[in-house]
Amino acid sequence: MSQVSPIERPIEPDDRADGEAEKGADDQIAPAIRHLVSIDDISVAEINALFLAADRFAAEPRAFADTCPGFISASLFYEPSTRTRLSFESAMLRLGGGVLTAAEMTSSSVVKGESLADTIRVVGGGYADVIVLRHPSEGSARLAALYSPVPVINAGDGSLEHPTQTLCDLYNLHVERGRIEGLDVVLAGDLKYSRTVHSFAYALARFGANIVCVPQHGLELPEYVVERLYEDFKVEPIRADARRLGALAANSDAVYLTPQKPHQLSLFTDARGWEVQRVDAVYMTRPQTERHSGAELSDTSYLRLEKRAMAAESLRDAIVMHPLPRRDEISAEVDADPRSIYFKQAARGVPIRMAILAWLLGRMELGDVDGGGRDPIKGSHEVPVGPNPCPNPSCVSRTETRHVDARFRVLKHDPLRAACAYCTRELQFEVIGCSSSGIYHAPDAGAVRLILPEHLVFLESVEDAEGLGFRAAATAAGS
Ligand code: NCD
Repeated sequence: MSQVSPIERPIEPDDRADGEAEKGADDQIAPAIRHLVSIDDISVAEINALFLAADRFAAEPRAFADTCPGFISASLFYEPSTRTRLSFESAMLRLGGGVLTAAEMTSSSVVKGESLADTIRVVGGGYADVIVLRHPSEGSARLAALYSPVPVINAGDGSLEHPTQTLCDLYNLHVERGRIEGLDVVLAGDLKYSRTVHSFAYALARFGANIVCVPQHGLELPEYVVERLYEDFKVEPIRADARRLGALAANSDAVYLTPQKPHQLSLFTDARGWEVQRVDAVYMTRPQTERHSGAELSDTSYLRLEKRAMAAESLRDAIVMHPLPRRDEISAEVDADPRSIYFKQAARGVPIRMAILAWLLGRMELGDVDGGGRDPIKGSHEVPVGPNPCPNPSCVSRTETRHVDARFRVLKHDPLRAACAYCTRELQFEVIGCSSSGIYHAPDAGAVRLILPEHLVFLESVEDAEGLGFRAAATAAGS
């Protein structure tokens, strides 16, 4: 790939979606604007190009103040943050731009009842050229992108994703290890609620790295993440014999996530027990207590990476990573270990975010690389009648009901499978209704295949269907 250099390219008026915000949801999607909502929104080639740019920014952090003069980023943070917000703001200032900070959105018009969609329309409608959003609802950044006339960067949406932390983490692997493909990376701790882990796992699978999960008991990787890893990358979990991880995995089952055709067979023993031999990186995470239910709140016996664990032969060359903040899951005595890179990792958040901002603001070309991304809103359908079928209580379609039309995307027609267009969680249903005919069917009935997607109604039970006035297929035929 040719060398990437930040070049002057003023944003053309056509790049903007000014005036689009009042239109219907589908019309609001401005193809010329790139958002960074999911790690899937960016291709591997683009990520590699960002790394090259980040290398340049890291080498001379003060030399690029003419990259984004006159541009403003807005940090809208509905959840606490230190690194993500400050590194984004540092990045923008180093690029010569300005920043607007709303670090505590609870002191904003939210308390007056303003919807996220309205806030985004206002901030993107003239106050700022890019929005960095952190919000507790899953799919909130996707919703924001739908309404925003300027690029939206997801700085963490609930437990769902944190793509810029992942770009930072991947960049660290790239700098420290020189490659990502084929690396063996241990993900440890709260794998259930850590959004950094979820985005990182998708990216590692895409780059062809091997993932060894060492979860805190009860905080295993959620089923929907495992399913997506399989659907998108044909990566399958295999129970691992993790004795070689020594003290790190002593109290935990380890799961090895590997492509169906593992390309690193030499690292493992045999099919009876996949034995981790040598690890390249350990990625530790804190208990995400703010998202735990009562039962999960006790973290007294949480995994802990201590000097003793670092003595395991399999970790001899492993770098130790953590998105931070840390609590007690990495003991302070590990800080002095040359394999610990978590403070360097946080520092590298600035050059990689400089690259992300310069790219999304149209001030840096990434070269002739394929644009990534599948936008789950595109090709989605509004739920025609009845309740929102999204099963995820933390989804933005449930927490923000104004300006949010429940939408779904058909994943597969036969058998029918569909997902929420915002949080991408798969819908669960026992009955399918047709909003046009008013008839309901069993999901595997042949007639379901004939229903237009925009007429599909996903229902939990026959009672729900009849409660909404749908009639059974047989009754309707006989009537
Ligand atoms: C992470 C987050 O907010 O998800 N922090 C960060 O952005 N560096 C990780 C965490 O809070 O545990």
